[in-house]
Amino acid sequence: MKHDELDNRIDKGSTTTLVLDVKDPHSRGDAISKAATILQNGGLVAFPTETVYGLGANALNEKAVKSIFAAKGRPADNPLIVHISKWEEALPLVSSFPEIARLLAEKFWPGPLTMVLPVSSAVPKVVTAGLDTVGIRLPANEYAREMIRTAGVPVAAPSANVSGSPSPTSAEHVYHDLAGKIDLILDGGSCEVGVESTVLDLAGPVPVILRPGGTPVEELLKYLPDLIVPGLEIAETEGVPRAPGMKYRHYAPKAKLLLVVGEVDKVAAAIRKEIASWQARRSKVAVLASKENAAQYKADIVIVLGERERPQEAAQHLFAALRELDDSGANIILAECTEQAGLGYAVMNRLWKASGGDIIRAR
Ligand code: TXA
Ligand code: MG
Repeated sequence: MKHDELDNRIDKGSTTTLVLDVKDPHSRGDAISKAATILQNGGLVAFPTETVYGLGANALNEKAVKSIFAAKGRPADNPLIVHISKWEEALPLVSSFPEIARLLAEKFWPGPLTMVLPVSSAVPKVVTAGLDTVGIRLPANEYAREMIRTAGVPVAAPSANVSGSPSPTSAEHVYHDLAGKIDLILDGGSCEVGVESTVLDLAGPVPVILRPGGTPVEELLKYLPDLIVPGLEIAETEGVPRAPGMKYRHYAPKAKLLLVVGEVDKVAAAIRKEIASWQARRSKVAVLASKENAAQYKADIVIVLGERERPQEAAQHLFAALRELDDSGANIILAECTEQAGLGYAVMNRLWKASGGDIIRAR
């Protein structure tokens, strides 16, 4: 974010939102200590993580946590993840920290993994939406960890977007959604992972993926051979425990998004055909494409998400692309399916959700 542009900003709410650069070593110390003070005093701070930006409050301050829900317009029955700066800080927040959690913490923390564990009485009900479990995450982003360590409190934080819109992967995205509603944004540049953490339920009889994300399930399966990995229609699968958040409409662009699935060549052919037929109906057509296929699409807007075999590139660019399309006036978005290995599973899950289940099967 260009910081000189902020002097003439217009606040959209009643709070003045400060933006401080945490990348610059000269301003970092001040930015972190300001953030820590705001958190200690019950305020709201948006901060970078390796996945997406979070909107943080002191997790032990019920009133502060309530104000997160208000700023985002988030339903109260959707629990928040509690962020910590070293694994031992999880212990007072949970009623048990099983051996497997200890092993996974050693292997995957700091990193994009949220572990759902039985909650202790120290955590206010508003954080967990009254559930008997709590999601805990130790982020890899060093500014996030430094902020939490300096504040000296666990930090409850959902993604720092207005409820329903794509998660923010830059300080600009946060500013767009929440300026005037929160106290501070720490600008740490773009998030390198780009999709949210993997949410893993360890509180039940068998481990279950509640949300695919930044930690690939293939990696988790090495330590959890009986892990339950739901399909892409995760939110709709009956009888499978799910993250309450997955039931809400998410990442929904203003335009209709159609997800095109099938073999590579057939997907490209189907998209070319769809482009022609929507343009014949005077629609402004956008395509979310792989680098390899992009050149063959004669659409109004073509956004390249990355190389087909490198789904981590699509993960990094997906949410910014959805936001860009909202500003573009496109009426229809055709999205190529990606490889489902690695981060591709999370990318496909988000595309599936953005499509609301509108899928074209290319034959
Ligand atoms: O990468 C991330 O996880 C980011 C960054 C900021 O850490 N946070 C994030 O938070 O994505 P949020 O609130 O947007 O998504 C949290 C998801 C929701 O689907 C929520 O329902 C689920 O995690 N969740 C949180 N606590 C849970 C619990 N105790 N049981 C089941 N699901 C839970
Ligand atoms: Mg979210």
